[in-house]
Amino acid sequence: MQPSILHLPSSIIRPLTSDLIPQSAVCSRHSAVLRPRTSDLSHQSAVGSRQSAVLRPLTSDLIPQSAVGSRQSAVLRPQSSVLTLLTSLLLLLLISACTKKDDQVTTIHATPYTIQVPLHFPGELNIPEDNPMTVEGIALGRYLFYDGRLSGRDSPDSLMSCSTCHIQAHSFVCGINHPVFTGGHPRGLTGIQTSHFMLPMINLVWTNHGYLWNGLVSEENQNEGYRELEDVVGLVIELPSEIHGDTNRTKTMIQSIKGYPELFEKAFGSRTVTAKNISRAIAQFVRTLISADSKFDRFMQGQEQLSPSELNGYVLFMTEQGGDCFHCHGGEGNPLFTTNLFYNNGKDSVFTDPFDRFSVTGNAVDIGAYKAPTLRNLVFTAPYMHDGRYKTIEEVIDFYSSGLVWSPSISPLMHHIATGGVRLTPSQKADLKAFLLTFTDSTFVTNPAFSRPDKMPDEQ
Ligand code: HEC
Ligand code: HEC
Repeated sequence: MQPSILHLPSSIIRPLTSDLIPQSAVCSRHSAVLRPRTSDLSHQSAVGSRQSAVLRPLTSDLIPQSAVGSRQSAVLRPQSSVLTLLTSLLLLLLISACTKKDDQVTTIHATPYTIQVPLHFPGELNIPEDNPMTVEGIALGRYLFYDGRLSGRDSPDSLMSCSTCHIQAHSFVCGINHPVFTGGHPRGLTGIQTSHFMLPMINLVWTNHGYLWNGLVSEENQNEGYRELEDVVGLVIELPSEIHGDTNRTKTMIQSIKGYPELFEKAFGSRTVTAKNISRAIAQFVRTLISADSKFDRFMQGQEQLSPSELNGYVLFMTEQGGDCFHCHGGEGNPLFTTNLFYNNGKDSVFTDPFDRFSVTGNAVDIGAYKAPTLRNLVFTAPYMHDGRYKTIEEVIDFYSSGLVWSPSISPLMHHIATGGVRLTPSQKADLKAFLLTFTDSTFVTNPAFSRPDKMPDEQ
């Protein structure tokens, strides 16, 4: 089901005006004012209990309204005041029981899924209250993630899904050797290039300061449609540089495919496909994409030793006098290998990208700043940086070693700017690279649970 994006018929390239996000919306998005963060991240235990509360299986023992009515009239014959009191109490109990049961009608018969937080990982997970993880939701999300008809079209040359660009073998980027996306720069269904190169989909359930290179989609965004991972799905479907469709057409398409209505019913309690539930299911699947089985993880768990070169690299990574990487990219206390925060790491002195962090915050210190990406699975995620300017890990290390450029908004954490970088010797560079490669998690890129399903719902 891989779409062929190379040879698009002109009918598809014609601009679909109704699909374009109006310029005004784009502008308001970028001038979005930040409101103070609330501490509304879901905590693991809270999530767990919420799930079990909402997802109680439906029992068929609802008291029918008519039965309640007749019982009421039966018990309401006045006998004695005590009896009246008792019967009113009973009545109250009955009524509250009924209300509770009525609520259950709208809850879902789905199996709660609890994310096991790996050893040493932060306990706080970003799972919105209105989209608890369920086995059925994740299974549905996996189909949709891989189903090219997410584009709302089903002719072979107009298919596109998340997996068109987010490829498991590359830790969910498209890869530098992609046959169509030359040099690793993706283009949307109608041929328009994405404004940035890709970000890997690794451990996004811990993302807590916004998605995308500039953090546009974040709980701090005033615009409700740009807050959660769920919202990214709607954006992808509509963005001209991605699917260039519209969520209504996608909804209608998915509704018409045999098998999907049943899967929506299992996951969300209704056969009616909605754009919201499409987004919810895909987001649930994406939240399961956890990498925690690298050599570094096993080292932290005392199961494997690092080589002398890797250990030297580890020290360089973790010390200010060495490579000075840990402030922005984590370390043993933060095995996500990112703070998920935004920095100008000193690549340029002049900034022309209209979609940097500054475009979101309007704050001059954010000029030229981007999210510090996770360093997990670097070996699969070239090219590097938001503009893909470095093709190899060596080039990145050379940059941090001696290629830094000063600008007024450079991060104060780039301590070695005066010397143009951290000035590593060739053997230190080799050691640092060896350490970075200990973040390679081959289980993640081969895990069958993350892969394309053998058959789509209508092929079963
Ligand atoms: C045409 C290629 C393409 C398709 C199709 C695509 N993406 Fe992406 N995705 C990208 C690019 C490029 C970025 C980085 C964009 C940026 O931040 O400017 C990205 C970034 C993301 C991010 C942000 C990750 C982070 O660390 O903040 C998420 C989440 C995401 N995509 C989810 C999806 C989902 C879900 C789908 C399917 C509904 C999808 N993408 C389809 C190209 C694509
Ligand atoms: C001040 C914070 C900061 C420090 C310190 C820092 N980085 Fe980064 N790093 C970033 C940011 C921000 C980006 C993304 C910049 C962009 O895309 O324009 C990045 C990108 C990278 C990338 C590319 C990842 C990808 O998927 O594209 C690698 C590799 C990397 N850094 C490694 C290192 C190493 C190794 C060190 C130490 C020698 C280091 N970084 C120090 C902030 C930092």
